[in-house]
Amino acid sequence: MKLFLDTANVKEIQEAASLGLLDGVTTNPSLVAKEGRSFRDVLEEICRIVDGPVSAEVVAVEADAMVKEGRDLAKIHKNIVVKVPLIPEGLKATKRLSSEGIKVNVTLCFSPTQALLAAKAGAWCVSPFIGRLDDVSSDGMALIRQIIAIYKNYSYATYVLVASVRHPQHVVEAALAGGHICTMPYAVFQQLVKHPLTDVGLKKFLADWESRGQK
Ligand code: E4P
Repeated sequence: MKLFLDTANVKEIQEAASLGLLDGVTTNPSLVAKEGRSFRDVLEEICRIVDGPVSAEVVAVEADAMVKEGRDLAKIHKNIVVKVPLIPEGLKATKRLSSEGIKVNVTLCFSPTQALLAAKAGAWCVSPFIGRLDDVSSDGMALIRQIIAIYKNYSYATYVLVASVRHPQHVVEAALAGGHICTMPYAVFQQLVKHPLTDVGLKKFLADWESRGQK
């Protein structure tokens, strides 16, 4: 499973990338707005740090305008994936951008029918938001399993990008379900490596080593 960071914060991306295991980045308008910097500057900087797909979302809501925005974003760097919302105009834009060879991440997916349409429109990936479904007492992970089953039935090439991840258990379940990509906040990425028994065990190994005067 590919691991992406869901942030527009360059420092977080640099830190995660230093592990050598970061496969890509997703951003959204809220995350970019939080940084208070030019969208283009942020994207260029992210693309210099990470050699993998970087999702950049359009803010237009009408297909022609989305296509124009998407083309401009795609020109910034070869790794840019244009993010388009899962609305009828977004599907039209996805079909057009995909036919031009521009990768599209269809975002704000909350149902299997939406995911089916995204695949039929030729999306490079679809982003089901599992945390936001969990927040409203729906089973976010069940949606992931449904989409994966549907895509398998028809051999759709669209990747399932598990989004709106809130904790490491979401990452575990995404991997068990066969999610292709999982994007997460930096705090969750950091938690993936942590286990208290690892720390206790290492401390004891080093203490035993030193107590016997080993060099
Ligand atoms: C995905 O690409 C979105 O940016 C993101 O995962 C949304 O997560 P949130 O529900 O925590 O805002």
